[in-house]
Amino acid sequence: MLVPVLLSGGVGSRLWPVSREAHPKQFQPLAGELSMLQETLQRTTGLDEAAPVVVCNEEHRFMVAEQLRQVEIAASALILEPVGRNTAPAVALAALHAVNEDPDALLLVLPADHVIQDVTAFVEAVGKAMPLAQQGRLMTFGVVPTSPETGYGYINCGASLGEDLFALERFVEKPDAATASAYLETGNYLWNSGMFLLGASAFIAELGKHAPGILAACEQAMESASRDMDFVRPDAESFAACPADSIDYAVMENTSNGGVVSLDCGWSDVGAWSALWDVASRDSSGNACRGDVLLDNCEGSYFYSDSRLVAATGVRDLVVVETADAVLVADKARVQDVKRIVNELKVQD
Ligand code: GDD
Ligand code: MG
Repeated sequence: MLVPVLLSGGVGSRLWPVSREAHPKQFQPLAGELSMLQETLQRTTGLDEAAPVVVCNEEHRFMVAEQLRQVEIAASALILEPVGRNTAPAVALAALHAVNEDPDALLLVLPADHVIQDVTAFVEAVGKAMPLAQQGRLMTFGVVPTSPETGYGYINCGASLGEDLFALERFVEKPDAATASAYLETGNYLWNSGMFLLGASAFIAELGKHAPGILAACEQAMESASRDMDFVRPDAESFAACPADSIDYAVMENTSNGGVVSLDCGWSDVGAWSALWDVASRDSSGNACRGDVLLDNCEGSYFYSDSRLVAATGVRDLVVVETADAVLVADKARVQDVKRIVNELKVQD
């Protein structure tokens, strides 16, 4: 049984003012007609998969349920976290839920905020990774790096295990800039896309080896979980006591049982506004627009209008995002700094 597990607990602060705590980016149609959560769900429908599991914050349960209903996909569970404890516990909850139904379950772990342009290539890569995952390898999806990005994990590919398949020699999460540049030069590192194909039992075993505190807390939280229709609520007290860590630091950096399938599918992690400019179709002057926008002599810019006409003349390499209660204007090369604005707004609150 192949269970898509959608991680939908992040806040997406660099995509302010569209992404807000109460309404994060994955629930918004930022890159296509559907929200990124809905696009991620639809991407899995070519896989002969079982019903998906969505792991999200308790606060977002009705939004997630409504978005599933809109695309006519029934989840096997919406696992509701009372607090965020990062991705290792989130995947652990899903794995414990899945093994209960099928000890041989495979989890296809998918962040709900990625864009994939070539869905067929993605589906093929999942198919290629499946036999190794069934043998208990924790499979990563590796993307050929194009810059020394420090916000990604890096995968050093080892021995070939088949077409586009490798043993995972080494996994390094978010290296510093010098290390990332050195990795790029060797030509033997791929970016970790943040998607994984994992045997639920194999993942639980590796988590027990490398992060026993996380496993124990999640086991306790799931043993005393309550269920109300699709909503599964892990016990709040046990889950609050769980150490917070990402799957990358807690498991992937430490496992000696990892694998890699290389992936070439127009993958993009929509972390900041410039990524939306990257994946959007652009006019002959390199501008990408969404909503009601009027441009004159502009170049290389991204414009997003939510509720009013946005008009611009004579600007280049800008990001302009209009919503009903806030407008962002940023240098396209500095959009990572939007996080600082969000932090400042939190202080003022
Ligand atoms: N349910 C739940 N609970 N989901 C969470 C939580 C949580 O506490 N924390 C994060 N997520 C979700 C986010 O919404 C996102 O969809 C996904 O998990 C990954 O989390 P990020 O916080 O976006 O991770 P990252 O981008 O810093 O790093 C990961 O992705 C990179 C590629 O985009 C790592 O896997 C890197 O190695 C990888 O390169
Ligand atoms: Mg991310």
